[in-house]
Amino acid sequence: MKSASQRSVSKQNLAVGKVNFWKKTERGISGETEHAFFQLTVYADHTIRVQVSRENSFSGNPYSVIAQPANTEFTITENEDKITLRTSIIQCEVNLQPFHLSFLDSNGNSLNQDDPAFAVSWLGTEVTNYKKVQEDEKFIGLGEKTGGLNRAGSAYTNWNTDYFGYGVGDDPLYMSIPFYIGVHHERAYGIFFDNTHKTIFNFGASNNRFIYYSADDGDMDYYFFHHETVADIIQAYCQLTGTMELPPLWSLGFQQCRYSYYPDSEVLTLAKTFRDKNMPADVIYLDIHHMDKYKVFTFDPEKFADPKGMISQLKDMGFRVVIIMDPGIKTEEGYTPYTEGLAKDLFVKYPDGSIYEGQVWPGWCAFPDFTKEETRTWWAEQMEFYKNAGVDGYWTDMNEPASWGQFTPNLIEFSYEGEEVSHRKARNIYGFQMARSAKEGAEFQNPEERAFVLTRAGFSGIQRYAAAWTGDNVASDEHMLAGIRLVNSLGLSGVSFAGYDVGGFAGEASKGLFARWMSVAAFAPFYRAHSMINSNDAEPWAFGEEVEEISRNYMKLRYRLLPTIYSSFKQSADTGLPISRSLAIDYSFDTKIYESAFQNQYLFCDQLLVVPVESFKEITKVYLPKGDWYYLFDDQKHVGNQVIYQDCPLNYLPVYVKGSAILALQSDISHSTDTTDGILQLHVYQGQEPNSYLHYEDDGISKAYLEGVYHSRKITWNPQEGTLQIEAAEGTYPSKFEKIAVYIHGREVNKALIQEQSTEVVKETVAFLGKLTEFDPLPEYLHPYYEIKDVPCIQVSNTSEAIVIHLQ
Ligand code: NOJ
Repeated sequence: MKSASQRSVSKQNLAVGKVNFWKKTERGISGETEHAFFQLTVYADHTIRVQVSRENSFSGNPYSVIAQPANTEFTITENEDKITLRTSIIQCEVNLQPFHLSFLDSNGNSLNQDDPAFAVSWLGTEVTNYKKVQEDEKFIGLGEKTGGLNRAGSAYTNWNTDYFGYGVGDDPLYMSIPFYIGVHHERAYGIFFDNTHKTIFNFGASNNRFIYYSADDGDMDYYFFHHETVADIIQAYCQLTGTMELPPLWSLGFQQCRYSYYPDSEVLTLAKTFRDKNMPADVIYLDIHHMDKYKVFTFDPEKFADPKGMISQLKDMGFRVVIIMDPGIKTEEGYTPYTEGLAKDLFVKYPDGSIYEGQVWPGWCAFPDFTKEETRTWWAEQMEFYKNAGVDGYWTDMNEPASWGQFTPNLIEFSYEGEEVSHRKARNIYGFQMARSAKEGAEFQNPEERAFVLTRAGFSGIQRYAAAWTGDNVASDEHMLAGIRLVNSLGLSGVSFAGYDVGGFAGEASKGLFARWMSVAAFAPFYRAHSMINSNDAEPWAFGEEVEEISRNYMKLRYRLLPTIYSSFKQSADTGLPISRSLAIDYSFDTKIYESAFQNQYLFCDQLLVVPVESFKEITKVYLPKGDWYYLFDDQKHVGNQVIYQDCPLNYLPVYVKGSAILALQSDISHSTDTTDGILQLHVYQGQEPNSYLHYEDDGISKAYLEGVYHSRKITWNPQEGTLQIEAAEGTYPSKFEKIAVYIHGREVNKALIQEQSTEVVKETVAFLGKLTEFDPLPEYLHPYYEIKDVPCIQVSNTSEAIVIHLQ
């Protein structure tokens, strides 16, 4: 009788079988098995692509991967039963009988192995790669997926879905990112399954034999990454699929949305209320009621009779407008976008050539085929309509694409850059390409400025075009926490600029919930409040005095932190590392961080440990990973590697500063382009290790930074030696700050020494110690405002030259 591993073909399951032939190629190997063709390509020393197809040619996805294989050294050795392909970092063993792969690190430690019997198999057109599970393996990432940080034991589907009021365990949602990271034995690897069909990732649900990922059709086409750390693997993935471009500074401010604000007078009152109430904010959204009968590229002639005038008044108050764009185009005779789209053959069609129609807000609609360059360009041209009104940002919604009934027929056809494919292959990238078109349109209309696009649907690579938000969430504590995990998971998967609807889109937030949500979202990359039609008012002042005060405090803290946040965005644009960092990035092998009690904790901008906590909790358990941690609001020091109990009344969200951190703050402002008091506050914290922070500034809006018009300085703090080194500035942009005030947290400062040095070391130095400012005493419940009291401070003039401050 044949053993299980010899029996590679059953009636239903067709595995690749034995290798009949293989050869070396320029960048790897290719070959043929009993039932398939395969190709392995070295993309970099940390990245190998694996393609397996039943055809003697490989099909692919032209949208996600933008990198070409780099010129990387590798070797190939062969013995009777396997070929080994080696880079300096990965060894890939191609076992020949039957074909199955094993990935090892350079020391021969196992990273990931195919299940030898099934390896790559087909069930009809469905293609699957079965992998062995390693002992105690954790699975993280996979983009916008609900569930726990560690996805072991769960399965997920990638099929972009409009899901109003989804449950915190429901799947699939709006966006698909078929990339995950496996962590075991203090090692990590990543797999990006680059297939845009519906895919399934099963991390050991309903079986104990393997994990697998499968696609409805197409090739088995995946990239295997290995590097020392999870952070390196995220960067390797972003080297393939791209990083976000640095967004405009205003898009990092607070954003207010509602479905919908209208008429224009209400929008203006809203803006004025933010200013009157001294609540910093940058953006107001126009949701679907700005349109005439929900027709894209129109304004309602009555509700918004003079959009240009309205937007110009908003600009005078320091606000930008982001406008919604839905893909569905009303099939109305005489409506130009429809008639033009028809004439130019831009819409998605049935196989018999007739136009596919589905119902959305405007009624029956045609859908532009964004997988075709002509359509993207045409759409980008139509956006002139909004540019003329003064709109600054674009929100691509309903781009799964959504339609009533939520069941698009699979036979409809898309160009897919000329390949001509059905909905099965195109759906998951439709929203991605709409967002691309919106970004290209924003840049085409306004070439001087950086684009801001917010999208609901997307696929791997979406970070190049848009920020993402997690759709129609619900006003509940569990949703608040789920949103944080979604954003952190998006961050693990290349999408750094992400957020959730603060306050919950559906349902009514309680006072406490709204206050807590506003607090925690001040530490989200994208900070926007939104709520749905027919719900109660949900602006930060709509919940009474206490919530208003708490919201204001955290909004102000967000704006004071903007120098740090903007620098972190720059780092993310350069590397792909997220701004909201699940602890699985920096503490990947610490099993504690995966526990359900601690899985929501994350580092914001590298320096701050944020502990999301439900609104009803007055005290919470916090896990502090290794190192020293300082409670943000009173500098109390805690040693890490332990669980502590932290009071967390509504006004105090538990936030800790990492030992050795350098945190850059500025004075209060009312919107991101408002002027500060001209002092950059550098808060340095005592710690065990030296630490560096790359401070980054530019004009916040143009692309001149790409030509060197920026200001950046590496700042290195050595807490053991007591030296703070601010390196000479790079770039031609003059800093917005005339002075730098250095606040020293967690250590005694030798006043005499500083005064003695200040003149010789730092030109025009003013040194002073002691209290900076104390604010008017407030009632206890209103108190979380981040006051800087009793912290020694040294103030120096901000030349672009190097500055060194010695504290001992
Ligand atoms: C669905 C979006 O998810 C939501 O944010 C928006 O308000 C509505 N569409 C109406 O445009």
